[in-house]
Amino acid sequence: MQAINASIGFDQKLAAEDIAGSKAHATMLAKQGILSDADRDAILSGLDAILAEIEAGEFPFSEELEDIHLNVEARLKDRIGEAGGRLHTGRSRNDQVATDFRLWTRKSLDLFDHLLTDLMTALLDQAEAHADTIMPGFTHLQSAQPVTFGHHMLAYLEMFARDRSRMRDCRVRMNESPLGAAALAGTPYPIDRDMTAEALGFDRPMANSLDAVSARDFALEALAAASICATHLSRLAEEIVIWTSAQFRFIALSDAFTTGSSIMPQKRNPDAAELVRAKVGRIMGSLTALMIVMKGLPLAYSKDMQEDKEPVFEAFESLELALRAMAGMVRDMAPNEARLAEAAGAGFSTATDIADWLVMHLNKPFRDAHHVTGRIVALAEEKGLTLDGLALSDMQAVEPGITDEIFSVLSPLASATSRMSYGGTAPDRVREQVKRWRSQLT
Ligand code: ARG
Repeated sequence: MQAINASIGFDQKLAAEDIAGSKAHATMLAKQGILSDADRDAILSGLDAILAEIEAGEFPFSEELEDIHLNVEARLKDRIGEAGGRLHTGRSRNDQVATDFRLWTRKSLDLFDHLLTDLMTALLDQAEAHADTIMPGFTHLQSAQPVTFGHHMLAYLEMFARDRSRMRDCRVRMNESPLGAAALAGTPYPIDRDMTAEALGFDRPMANSLDAVSARDFALEALAAASICATHLSRLAEEIVIWTSAQFRFIALSDAFTTGSSIMPQKRNPDAAELVRAKVGRIMGSLTALMIVMKGLPLAYSKDMQEDKEPVFEAFESLELALRAMAGMVRDMAPNEARLAEAAGAGFSTATDIADWLVMHLNKPFRDAHHVTGRIVALAEEKGLTLDGLALSDMQAVEPGITDEIFSVLSPLASATSRMSYGGTAPDRVREQVKRWRSQLT
């Protein structure tokens, strides 16, 4: 029974939140005349001493005492005697654990906010430095159209900005206090739930005691936001893995974020990126685990809900690591501009530019222009040439109206520079977005 029932092995992580909740509760009880001022003072200094003990690693955690709440309470009684037994008036472990876990989750969301801002700043710095760096843009991982490296970095910045916004939304919704809901039905003591809510930084007390002790959707929502963020991280991680390969050589990572092989001396493996790519498994697994724990649970508290903590701890620890590692890699990555430029021209990546030229200069319908361009590409392929390597006469054999003006759109740089539509890849558009983000991030 003890082995399956005890949670102290993992919920000791909630110690600081548990003590903060108890201090707010004791202060409120005294203010309401439910506890004497002398008992309150003894409780508050006792709890401070216990927190110091825990932080110093000197607290004697006991599995027999089941969880963090009973461990702290028992220790308080040891230290201050009878007054310690009065702390649990008008509350229950059910509202206590719901409060502790909310506080802990809120603290984590604030940390992610900070880490995401840092990652966004790293991406922004790369975008600014490489607003003009031309690289291939892909669809289906096949050369599609040239883009700028800065534009590619800003695409991720946008994703992480939405992740941050999701975390902020989640924080707003979850910031209500369960404390004072007691076991499930409220309490006959004249408690002041507004006072404890305010003391703990919550916006208000939760309005329904049954909901307060049994809601875990705040944790699910945080895990969902974490999972989506992890998918974004894994996509960027995957690109880093591809880009650092000998076949691509788009970017280089320093030794700081790569490892050598024990038998192949030439290797520089992007282990950090691979691990970021993999962490998404644990994070989404945690979301699934807690979803399944919560589905079908009758109101109000059931011990099933003790299983809420470990998935969240594990997911958040993984996300924190992944965010820190990714910010480090983004700062570390050195784009190989020559190689990117060379690759940007491969795969007839400016074919769309020929079609657009035919539309703009010869007033052809786009569908016809697309067809003509297809024949020009086939010719270049047959001759083993790039599009800007074809002779004017070759192109005129396909479409007599083509003039040498067409060469001005055939380089990857010209192609990217021409894409000036809002949100497009043109260096000036990238710089515009860099400016917008710079003013928002600092
Ligand atoms: N350790 C428990 C948990 O994490 C605390 C709440 C226990 N409540 C109860 N009625 N047994 O959920």
